[in-house]
Amino acid sequence: MRPYILVCMVGKARMIEGTGSMRVWLTEGDGIEGLRQAVVDDPVPGPREILLRTVAVALNYRDLLVIRGEGTWKPNRPIVPISDAAGVVEAIGSKVTRFERGDVVLPTFLPKWRSGPLTAETYTMPTGGPRGRGMLAEFVTMDEQEAVRAPRTLDAVQAATLPVAGVTAWHALRRTGISPGTVVLVHGTGGVALMALQIAAAVGAEVIVTSGRPHKLDRARVLGARHTIDRRRLDVAAEVRRLTGGVGADIVIETIGGSNLDVSLDAVRIGGHIAFIGLLAGLKAEVSTYKLVTTNATLHGIETGSREMLEELVAFIDAHRVVPVIDSTHRWEDIATALRHLEAGTHLGKVVVTA
Ligand SMILES: NC(=O)c1ccc[n+]([C@@H]2O[C@H](COP(=O)([O-])OP(=O)(O)OC[C@H]3O[C@@H](n4cnc5c(N)ncnc54)[C@H](OP(=O)(O)O)[C@@H]3O)[C@@H](O)[C@H]2O)c1
Repeated sequence: MRPYILVCMVGKARMIEGTGSMRVWLTEGDGIEGLRQAVVDDPVPGPREILLRTVAVALNYRDLLVIRGEGTWKPNRPIVPISDAAGVVEAIGSKVTRFERGDVVLPTFLPKWRSGPLTAETYTMPTGGPRGRGMLAEFVTMDEQEAVRAPRTLDAVQAATLPVAGVTAWHALRRTGISPGTVVLVHGTGGVALMALQIAAAVGAEVIVTSGRPHKLDRARVLGARHTIDRRRLDVAAEVRRLTGGVGADIVIETIGGSNLDVSLDAVRIGGHIAFIGLLAGLKAEVSTYKLVTTNATLHGIETGSREMLEELVAFIDAHRVVPVIDSTHRWEDIATALRHLEAGTHLGKVVVTA
């Protein structure tokens, strides 16, 4: 792809056409206001590549970290941001065998992680980050091995939520050994948390959901939560113990992170599992290592998921008719509004932008 031709800043209504015809949004990690559109040359798929027309992108908290340029997420050049997406295959290379024109597909977040455990070789080029491809583009090319067919029971807006938020929740529950009757504590009602709630409820687990906003708890109950806890009003760990006859949760989906891990350590049962996912409360924290030892619990670091996990999730969604919760859908031009909405934290479910 040739260098982009500058177009318009978020706040301005002007777009200077370049010689190409494909629209992309670019960030240099200087905040939502710094996002700008550009017109670039249309990508052409190589022999083993597919050309994807992006239909919808779903926003994740990580996208805010990249666009705000926080820590190692800061790009050192203009990049196309956003990782979660669904698109339609518009063209295929001469050697492509996995897909046909018209298929709705999902790009994997870590393109080289196909199956098995994550390794140094496969932990590379995360989508939507400083070094990977970004999905906030009208068209994207990728190796056919780096995509998965979308669930047939979801539309593209719903399916766009799966490559990051969906697969992370799936990975967390798979690693921690969920089964019918398992007590699962889910912190918050963000994209990963709600997907974990929906999957766990579909498996037949007993799900407890916390939130800092009581009205969201009503919705969590509708989605299958057996119990809910208003985090601002009640001591979460004490309440989980009360609800479980003093035992604690079998599995905790730790989507908040930071010092909330201490709450999870108080809430997990002896021999239980904590899937550590979230960075919302910071990248470092003081927690009680004593509690980790005395609960004999297992703490799992969870990094999104492999292509195989995404394929498993797609099959599960089709089999159990799980429908991801969409908070709102925004137009391509309104990406800044959509990101600010995510930043405000008032959303319930996924914030999606359509192309
Ligand atoms: N490890 C991985 O592979 C992976 C993958 C995806 C996401 N993540 C991380 O997981 C976390 C959740 O991601 P997400 O996309 O689900 O987030 P999200 O949709 O933005 O959800 C955030 C929700 O978490 C709750 N929350 C609790 N404490 C919070 C705090 N201090 N700041 C902001 N929100 C807080 C809020 O729910 P209530 O209003 O109900 O309390 C809020 O709506 C993020 O840190 C993200 O980076 C990690």
